[in-house]
Amino acid sequence: MKVLVLNGPSLGRLGTRQPEIYGRTTLAELEEMLRARGKELGCEVECVQSDDAADLIAALSKTDADAAIINPAALTHYSYELRDAVAAFAGPVYEVHISNIYAREPYRRHSLISPVARGSIIGLGITGYLLALEAAVEAR
Ligand code: DQA
Repeated sequence: MKVLVLNGPSLGRLGTRQPEIYGRTTLAELEEMLRARGKELGCEVECVQSDDAADLIAALSKTDADAAIINPAALTHYSYELRDAVAAFAGPVYEVHISNIYAREPYRRHSLISPVARGSIIGLGITGYLLALEAAVEAR
């Protein structure tokens, strides 16, 4: 089994970007954790981060992964093109947000991705990615 992990704009700066909100774990550390947990669960983990929606859409359309985990970052709130790409993906897509988007600014309270995701894990920090990976493997 293979799981694609997508991270959107500014998540490449995890660890130093507003650590009081997003924590101190870097993206490289997070991706390593996911690959290691994937190995334990018997699944390959492919990771892509981009600040450009087009790259995330291309990754979703080209991959041979069976499931995807996505933190679309700010694209969550306005990207219809990313929503369409998530809807078009053959396997289940799990949406993750590190912070609780419902407890922040009003514009963050609406996700265009949630309605086309298998499920959403919100506000549990980077643990959300690990839980999503377990859910993806469990559902295989
Ligand atoms: C985020 C929440 C978004 O509103 C924000 O734009 C992000 C990160 C999160 O993981 O909490 O960049 O997706």
